[in-house]
Amino acid sequence: MDLWGLTTTALLACVLFLILSLWIQGFKRGKLPPGPTPLPLIGNILQLDTKNINASFSKLAEKYGPVYTLYMGTQRVVVLYGYNIMKEALIDHGDVFLERGDIPIFDDLLKGEGIGFSHGERWKQIRRFSLMTLRNFGMGKRSIEERVQEEAQCLVEELRKTKGQPTDPTFILGCAPCNVICSILFRDRFKYSDEKFLNLMKLLNENFQVLNSPWAQFYNFLPGFRVYLPGKHNIIYRNTDKMNNFIMERVKEHQKVLDPNNPQDFIDCYLSKMQQEKDNPQSKFDLQNLVMTGTDLFGAGTETTSSTLKYGLLLILKYPEVQAKIHEEIDRVIGQNRVPSIKDRQDMPYMDAVVHEVQRFIDLKPLNLPHAVNRDIQFRQYVIPKGTTIFPLLSPVLWDSKEFPNPDQFDPQHFLDKDGKFKKSDYFMPFSTGKRSCLGEGLARMELFLFFTTILQNFTLKPVGDPNDLSIKPNRVGFANIAPNYQLCFLPR
Ligand code: HEM
Ligand SMILES: *[C@@H]1O[C@H](CO)[C@@H](O)[C@H](O)[C@H]1NC(C)=O
Repeated sequence: MDLWGLTTTALLACVLFLILSLWIQGFKRGKLPPGPTPLPLIGNILQLDTKNINASFSKLAEKYGPVYTLYMGTQRVVVLYGYNIMKEALIDHGDVFLERGDIPIFDDLLKGEGIGFSHGERWKQIRRFSLMTLRNFGMGKRSIEERVQEEAQCLVEELRKTKGQPTDPTFILGCAPCNVICSILFRDRFKYSDEKFLNLMKLLNENFQVLNSPWAQFYNFLPGFRVYLPGKHNIIYRNTDKMNNFIMERVKEHQKVLDPNNPQDFIDCYLSKMQQEKDNPQSKFDLQNLVMTGTDLFGAGTETTSSTLKYGLLLILKYPEVQAKIHEEIDRVIGQNRVPSIKDRQDMPYMDAVVHEVQRFIDLKPLNLPHAVNRDIQFRQYVIPKGTTIFPLLSPVLWDSKEFPNPDQFDPQHFLDKDGKFKKSDYFMPFSTGKRSCLGEGLARMELFLFFTTILQNFTLKPVGDPNDLSIKPNRVGFANIAPNYQLCFLPR
């Protein structure tokens, strides 16, 4: 064959190959949920406005319906938009939609251990154990509630030290939820001035900053182009190492004095479990996994809760009539002479509604965390292949305008009936829903109720300047909605 012949054959082969691959793609596409056409390598990235990702997702839902397919770079993602489709996937097909989608940076850091970013059997064992242990009386004599109540009193003492002067509450509100995790993991809380505690707070804050930077978004969403920035990488690796070492030191202290019949905290419970399971070859309970689980609990349980507290106080500050009603209810139900307890919640529908409305309105994690399907599944008229990443969006549910008229208004009436009784809603899912939902939901809801109630039992919140000038627009950091910075005065009541 001459040169021309060879070239023609090669060209022909290429064209055939192209047609074939397009056809296969089209064929696969036919079974996948619909969606915009992706470009090679970068996928649909250009169609997404990362500054207002909600608007982009919402526009696509208008065009393609409540379930559609996108490509983040080369990674295929199926988006779930709205209550019905979320329920169908995460509840009705809960055993399939429960895998965690890959987040490259967490996969690098946690290596598939711990709870939040682990998979399969390891996840199942650690999740079940942790849920049991975090139940109110899962850890020996001192209940979780007592630990949170203790922290709430310390928080109030700390706020008293501001002497009614204008204060940025960010740091103090960060300490309390972090210390609750310390108390659960390590038995005792730290003093807010403790060097070890301040170091821990610093590590967490720094990691949060880096993990929410545009660099991390880029790293996570374009896995094909993993951008290695030595500076950023070093910070989070170093910090995570320090954090793991810190937890490991506590674990070693616990091992020396362990009494398996009398566990006092999470680490004791875990070490006892490890002993029980030592002859079981399937057991995933080892020291490395304990350390990563601890790191996970700090990572998932500190910033989330403190940001909700900070945003909540801002909203109460913005709406004096809400604060007045809260004060009235606290004075009527609890008074000034005893410490609030979780039992009070059933007699405090207004406070309960405020806490729910804060979480609904602020929409802390609009995109949820990514899930994945653990096998091929027929879903509505589509087929979603095993391993496909799923984005079960929370915003469209929390801001559903049929369930919550005027969803963009902060209004505790959203959770009250006409008689002022608390009104439950299935659309309240700031912790997501189904088998992979937030492990700390019970703890977080207890903290939010007890912290807000204890703070307002003890203080009147006073804005610096006119409350009408306070902005309640979120700071979008990465893909989280974080409270804007502000100052306020805590006036003792
Ligand atoms: C206001 C506070 C909080 C909010 C809004 C929140 C929200 C969430 C959300 C949306 C998820 C992802 C669920 C999913 O993938 O379907 C999650 C996961 C998780 N959260 Fe929370 N969370 C909060 C507090 C906490 C606390 C206090 C803890 C500590 C115990 C915690 C521990 C976890 C863990 C371990 C996971 C991973 C669960 C798994 O993959 O199985 N969270 N959280
Ligand atoms: C998301 O965008 C849609 C359409 O622009 C809007 O109606 C909705 O209120 C937005 N939701 C949030 C949580 O901002």
